[in-house]
Amino acid sequence: MNEVISTIKEHRSNRNFIKGYKLSKLELDTILDCAKQAPSWMNGQHYNIIVVDDQTIKDRLFELSMRNPHIQTSSVFLIFCIDLTRHSLASKKHSKNFDIEDNVDILINSTTDVSLAMQNAATVAESLGYGTVFCGGVRVIAEEIIEMLNIPKYSFPICGLSIGKLDEELTTERVKPRFNAKVNVGYNSYPSSTLEDIDEYNETLEIFAEARETKLWSQKFADVYEKNNSKTKEILKKQGF
Ligand SMILES: Cc1cc2nc3c(=O)[nH]c(=O)nc-3n(C[C@H](O)[C@H](O)[C@H](O)COP(=O)(O)O)c2cc1C
Repeated sequence: MNEVISTIKEHRSNRNFIKGYKLSKLELDTILDCAKQAPSWMNGQHYNIIVVDDQTIKDRLFELSMRNPHIQTSSVFLIFCIDLTRHSLASKKHSKNFDIEDNVDILINSTTDVSLAMQNAATVAESLGYGTVFCGGVRVIAEEIIEMLNIPKYSFPICGLSIGKLDEELTTERVKPRFNAKVNVGYNSYPSSTLEDIDEYNETLEIFAEARETKLWSQKFADVYEKNNSKTKEILKKQGF
């Protein structure tokens, strides 16, 4: 196994950081360079990264998203936004119509660009010995973030990434088991799942016994997907998507 494989296989989200610890400029620049080196659809690089290292802003974000205290103790909180502002300028430059509204493919492509860049950032931060956790919670407070950080039309915050120095005394996270490959990897045809597969994974996670999980895996998603309370579509519309 080489170091890339071990970094990836040892991944676990960490949420307990030593507050006030600063990454060196070289480390942060390396994380950002590697994020930006991810592939992107048509080389469109449909993302912008907001580096939040100002403690006052991190404190405010935590106040808005109390379920994510790691924002406050992180060394940096990176907010990954989909971005089509440069593409709108390209259209303007070539006197073309800019027709992106209600185009689901654009959302898929730009969110994929964001995801690849984010994952590169997380993997590199972990390879440098730092803890990381993604924060989809930013979408719950998207309106406040858009206003606070001046996110313009044709951009939208998709996900945050907290990077910090692990507080070893508080860190209990272990590598979390995934679904068995028989469930989600298909050779030459689509893999399908049965209720028995779901029961098996429920049991695997019950044995794993992560303190922060209070429900069965299936119960968690049955609850989440019961009703759509998301305001994201509405906010995306306001942002021009
Ligand atoms: C898109 C995305 C959004 C996430 N949002 C949050 C979040 O808001 N808060 C949090 O504590 N963890 C968040 N996570 C972390 C997941 O809970 C975590 O990756 C998952 O439980 C698997 O655990 P592991 O990363 O330790 O293997 C997010 C992960 C992803 C990929």
